[in-house]
Amino acid sequence: MSLKKRHTITAALPYANGPIHIGHLAGAYIPADIYARYLRLLKKDIIFICGSDEHGAAIPIRAKKEGLSPKKIIDKYHFEIKKTFEDFGISFDNYSRTSSKIHHETASIFFKNLNEKELFVEKTTDQLFDQKEKQFLADRFVTGSCPKCGHEEAFGDQCEKCGSTLNATDLINPKSILSGNKPVLKSTKHWFLPLNDYVSFLKKWFIYDNEKVWKSNVFGQVKSWIDDGLKPRAITRDLDWGIPVPHEDAQGKVLYVWFDAPIGYISSTIEWARKNNKDWEPYWQDLDTELIHFIGKDNIVFHCIIFPCILHASEKYILPKNVPANEFLNLEGRKISTSKNWAIWLNDYMKYFPDMQDSLRYVLTTNAPENKDNDFTWKDFQAKNNNELVAILGNYINRVAVLTQKYFQGVTPKLSNMDKNDEDIISKAYLYPKKVSDSIENFKFREAVNTMMDLARMGNKYLADSEPWKLIKTSNKEKVETIINISIQICSILSVVSEPFLPSASKKLRNQFNVQNIYWKDFSKEKPLIPVKIEKSELIFRKIEDDEIDFQLKKLNDSEK
Ligand code: MF3
Ligand code: ZN
Repeated sequence: MSLKKRHTITAALPYANGPIHIGHLAGAYIPADIYARYLRLLKKDIIFICGSDEHGAAIPIRAKKEGLSPKKIIDKYHFEIKKTFEDFGISFDNYSRTSSKIHHETASIFFKNLNEKELFVEKTTDQLFDQKEKQFLADRFVTGSCPKCGHEEAFGDQCEKCGSTLNATDLINPKSILSGNKPVLKSTKHWFLPLNDYVSFLKKWFIYDNEKVWKSNVFGQVKSWIDDGLKPRAITRDLDWGIPVPHEDAQGKVLYVWFDAPIGYISSTIEWARKNNKDWEPYWQDLDTELIHFIGKDNIVFHCIIFPCILHASEKYILPKNVPANEFLNLEGRKISTSKNWAIWLNDYMKYFPDMQDSLRYVLTTNAPENKDNDFTWKDFQAKNNNELVAILGNYINRVAVLTQKYFQGVTPKLSNMDKNDEDIISKAYLYPKKVSDSIENFKFREAVNTMMDLARMGNKYLADSEPWKLIKTSNKEKVETIINISIQICSILSVVSEPFLPSASKKLRNQFNVQNIYWKDFSKEKPLIPVKIEKSELIFRKIEDDEIDFQLKKLNDSEK
């Protein structure tokens, strides 16, 4: 794959209606962050954009539950979520929010533009209405049986079991989540995006031009949606929370959250550009820009059908080059559930494992639900931390640092008389960055992180097999010098190549090995990475004890609702 000149990377805007958990990190934010950090290490022109999704039914529903106003809810969670992302090293260039003025303006411009071009259909139809609460019910305000798979707790906009996107009136036996009552039908006017008009555009762009690009889970879902036939989709709602529809006949109506939220990527970019004195347009309109959306699988249709149709209809905009959606992460064999409190909340994790963000990042990457749902277990977390981060990577680096201090006072010894094996190791070591690149550029982050760890494995084995601690006693000093020099090179490569996955460990290693300002392509076998001097080692990873894991397991089971 060849990379373009400029990159716009987005990660799904999380709803500001609650804290975020490991499923969020694994699904979208860690892969997005790996990709963004990698591109920065290639010195690419990139922006990594996100923000809080503060509209839609999710917010007033949570507000009602907590007895607070919607505004209080979004303020509380926006800042909490933003902090969590910072804690975990998710390196957004801008983290905005959809309640901002710039976003309201940008989304309104999109609506007005499409409306002027007469690309919406205005229709008065019967919609579900809660007579007791005097409110129309769409999206998350109503549940019922899914017409496609029969799942009994489907929402008015989507069935989480089969992934189908629904209209509230499609639900069988609908029930208001506000009053619990059966809704009645009441007529109301809305603006619809006639997705059926975009079938040939989607067939060409999504299927014909790009079939090979999409991950199979993404392709399958979208193709079956297109094949099933697309229907007009309402992009306005009768709700008092959201962006007012900028139209004189639309009193009391707001834009549908899935109309405004993806535009949030653009308004966040505009906000970033203003802060940094840049132009935002090239990041969304220049054909030499590669746009990538990182999301979880429940967001696929919105990013592969609805938003691309909006971008296409708005003209001038580029379309996503890829949407590497992940499947879901389960926890201890069961689906993560916010309502049942079956989750590992990230702010909670921070309380028990401060300074261990890289460990969670690592395990969630090696375990990422890239092609199928995957399971997170505390025991596996402990094993990967102890047996891989501590025992392989940490131990290896530490041994090299200690030996260099002990034999050479921290100064890198010279490289002399290499034998066949040494030559071989050096050649292999410098092939690793390219291997990791290939995996990252193909969105195979599990493979990428495992390859990075293989380099540490190889270094570890080389050191163990060549036994410099024995050679030093037989006064074979030259051989020891060579072994340590090669080992320092491998550690230096690791300190750079680990950065996308383990940013805080990488920072420590770069300091320790004095390779602070080295980029991904600054070294090769011909241009080796040999620091002059290395600093004393500090602990990068720590072992996790059994009682810590038992405690977490008990806590999880006890707090389940
Ligand atoms: N808030 C949505 C969710 O959590 C994601 C919105 S992504 C965006 O599922 F594209 F709309 F921004
Ligand atoms: Zn279903």
